[in-house]
Amino acid sequence: MRILVVGGGGREHAIVRKLKESPRVTALYCAPGNGGIAADATCVPIRATEVERLAQWAAEEKMDYVVVAPDDPLCMGLVDELQKRGVPAFGPDRAAARIEGSKVFAKDLMKRYGIPTASYRAFDDAQAALAYVRGLKTPVAVKADGLALGKGVILCRTAAQAEEAVNDMMCKDRFGASGRRVVVEEWLEGPEVSVLCLTDGRTLVPLASAMDHKRALDGDQGLNTGGMGVIAPNPFYTEAIARQCMSEIFLPTVRAMQSEGCPFRGCLYFGLMLTAQGPKVIEYNCRFGDPEAQAVLPLLQGDLLEAMLAVTRGELDQVPLSVKPGASCCVIAASGGYPEHYETGKPISGLEQAQQTAQVFHAGTRREGGALLTAGGRVLGVTATAPTLSQAVSQAYEAARHISFEGMHMRSDIGARALRALG
Ligand code: AMP
Ligand code: GLY
Repeated sequence: MRILVVGGGGREHAIVRKLKESPRVTALYCAPGNGGIAADATCVPIRATEVERLAQWAAEEKMDYVVVAPDDPLCMGLVDELQKRGVPAFGPDRAAARIEGSKVFAKDLMKRYGIPTASYRAFDDAQAALAYVRGLKTPVAVKADGLALGKGVILCRTAAQAEEAVNDMMCKDRFGASGRRVVVEEWLEGPEVSVLCLTDGRTLVPLASAMDHKRALDGDQGLNTGGMGVIAPNPFYTEAIARQCMSEIFLPTVRAMQSEGCPFRGCLYFGLMLTAQGPKVIEYNCRFGDPEAQAVLPLLQGDLLEAMLAVTRGELDQVPLSVKPGASCCVIAASGGYPEHYETGKPISGLEQAQQTAQVFHAGTRREGGALLTAGGRVLGVTATAPTLSQAVSQAYEAARHISFEGMHMRSDIGARALRALG
């Protein structure tokens, strides 16, 4: 089969590598891909958000199947455009992608169907939002309704901070159209877990649970980033909690989407907070997480292409899939200054040595002549899998030690909290 993967980061590299294992793949393309993906697939120079061009290219070049990985093209309706042209695709259609594309949609869905989440109020009027937060005594999260590159959430400890956040979003247009509606919600405490699930709209198969490390610096200090590293499975996510999530959160969400007339087919990502009152949903994503996919896909036992095709056909219950025993750890090497200003174009060295004990997924790289250069904030994801988490963490850092480029920044404590929990 001729397959196109849409996207060009570490997540897409992990998907491409896993798809390559499938005997049915005869040709693999990635748009736009990156300097590392180019070694595993043919890169096509079309950006992930050029929906029309991508759909047209896929039809003209006779792709048998397209995997749409990033949130933007999913929310823009790339899957619908492909379907119109007779090209089957993995990922939710535009209506189902609203579960990530609109926080108001997601929160209202959870409220209507009794799915546990932080209590909240949604506003499209700035004055009403300001009046509401003015008297608040408890910490709250103020969230832009639409997509904002993971940066549309402001945690506010005081009413004054909440007022400022509402003002920034609704009056000063800090997140553009995404922030014209906001959700103000209760602040939740507890360990966070990401659970990526494949679902065909009826059957749901969870992959290994994961723990992302979102802050830029050790000890969960510094700014929020797209993710500086991941471990899987997440030791806080016990079997009992997994069963509870399946019956109280995962299946109710799948059924809710069906009842709303927009069944979700693709990878549904549950961002959960394990609170003292039980697990609650912080966010849904309509796609594989990044960097979660870089830690979770290497632990998937089974043929990813067959599983994806079954999701599209509505036959996920026919495909044998399981989670491999053992653990994985992905450490991100980022450009100095990320997530704020950073420079690119720095030569990268040491990949060959690193690849002897780990998989290196490329997030932001490009090739120029013979050289591999940095081309983004997150540059590489170094993933090791091993029988225990402690071994996976040491192996990932051992491999990452060989890699260098000017200004390179890694957290040195990925997995530390999980290891403390394991005792
Ligand atoms: P989101 O983009 O909704 O995933 O939020 C980004 C991050 O903010 C989450 O991963 C959490 O760490 C944090 N967060 C979001 N909502 C809440 C909340 N209600 N209470 C505490 N932390 C939150
Ligand atoms: N790692 C969080 C996300 O993909 O949204």
